[in-house]
Amino acid sequence: MGTLVRGGEIWTAIDRYVADIFIAAGKIQAIGEDLPGSGDDEILDATGLLVFPGGVDAHTHLDMPFMGASSTDDFQTGTIAAAVGGTTTIVDFVIPERSESLLAALGKWHAKAAGKAVIDYAFHMALTRWDEGVAREISRCVYEEGITSFKAFMAYKGSLGVDDYGLFQFMSRISELGALLAVHAENGDVIQALLEQYIAANKTHPRYHAMTRPAQCEGEATERAIGLARLLEWPIYLVHMSCREALASVKRAQKRGQQVFSETCPQYLLLDDSRYDEPDFGGAKYVMSPPLRKAEDNAALWAALRQGAVQVVATDHCPFNFAKEKQLGRDNFAKIPNGCPGIEDRLTLLWTHGVQQGRIDGHTFVKVCSTNPAKILGLYPQKGAIAVGSDGDLVLFDPTASRTITARTQHQRVDYNTFEGFAISGMPSHVLLRGQMIVREGKFTGIPGTGRYLARKPAKVRELAPV
Ligand code: URP
Ligand code: ZN
Ligand code: ZN
Repeated sequence: MGTLVRGGEIWTAIDRYVADIFIAAGKIQAIGEDLPGSGDDEILDATGLLVFPGGVDAHTHLDMPFMGASSTDDFQTGTIAAAVGGTTTIVDFVIPERSESLLAALGKWHAKAAGKAVIDYAFHMALTRWDEGVAREISRCVYEEGITSFKAFMAYKGSLGVDDYGLFQFMSRISELGALLAVHAENGDVIQALLEQYIAANKTHPRYHAMTRPAQCEGEATERAIGLARLLEWPIYLVHMSCREALASVKRAQKRGQQVFSETCPQYLLLDDSRYDEPDFGGAKYVMSPPLRKAEDNAALWAALRQGAVQVVATDHCPFNFAKEKQLGRDNFAKIPNGCPGIEDRLTLLWTHGVQQGRIDGHTFVKVCSTNPAKILGLYPQKGAIAVGSDGDLVLFDPTASRTITARTQHQRVDYNTFEGFAISGMPSHVLLRGQMIVREGKFTGIPGTGRYLARKPAKVRELAPV
């Protein structure tokens, strides 16, 4: 018994055509015109609907302890929200405590996801200290645990952050193993100094979060990280890029032929730093790192998506309730847990405010939401593709549906929505994970625990072929 999706308009990174798709045993078995279905097959009439490969969100933080709180979505609530929004794969971050073994932390993340995830998931491993034990564990992550991407923080001095010595050691080790280092590029030392100055001057309002993390700090750290990767002649992946300064470094490197990948997020495309002035401590909702920038940065990032300089749009979903966790910083912006929700709205925001408004075309939409993250992170062509042999992960998208984003109706387990009031035109109607219907007519129908861990292989990280 299989599933036959009839007559939808298939959109991939390069193609757009009307055809049927037959899925059985979790995989796409055939694509063509007038495919025959047997009496046992579920037939889905997709006439008038667009069919995208399931979304791949390269950057999430579910059930993550951070800054004295814990992100409020766990692997069940967070992946249900993702599914309803058309995402069928996430790559979440394992964050070991500073002295904890990587593999012990990995065990905790597997336990958090098992029995709960409703979509498939892989893990990045965060690296927060360098020593010989960590060096050994990195290779076990790659060769035994299926983790081929790591993250280092140049920000968060005194907690998750590492210095250039650690960063370079990580890069060296990871390049030997054929894996990929993702970098949070902000100058943690300068930010710490600015933060101390602002707090000493009693400047504690959320707006000072942005002022203590200027775009130059992101640009400088991005340039430095790219320079270290250049020394090793190995690719690097810049996460949650927010500003023109960082973008300029990325473009310079790409122009000279260096393999630099970069990611941005809907909040850096659609919101600006005027949000920090929202009344009644409302700016705390947007306290994230890097912070929101200027409208000119939004425009530059859209242009970079069009040009291919930025290849991925992820969410950095890291939700904290406004009425609870965000209040930890009521008297001091530096204590506001950093992060915002977004796992549910990535595809619809990009479709409406990207494709519908002419900022990107539909193929770029598929690339940045699905195909490129799958390629860069070693999940392609199992994920990120509509092709025979790929997983039957499909989004049947109704371009005529519309709604207004609001926390009142969201699935994300948090008391606000970063994009409250944004108009959306086009919504996932049905979502299939390995051929199983997990969203039907916009309603979640999956089963917690059916999401599978995706172990990856190291050799694939350099395979971002132009599409
Ligand atoms: O503010 C953010 N981005 N929170 C999540 C942690 C990180 O740096 O990605
Ligand atoms: Zn980060
Ligand atoms: Zn993050």
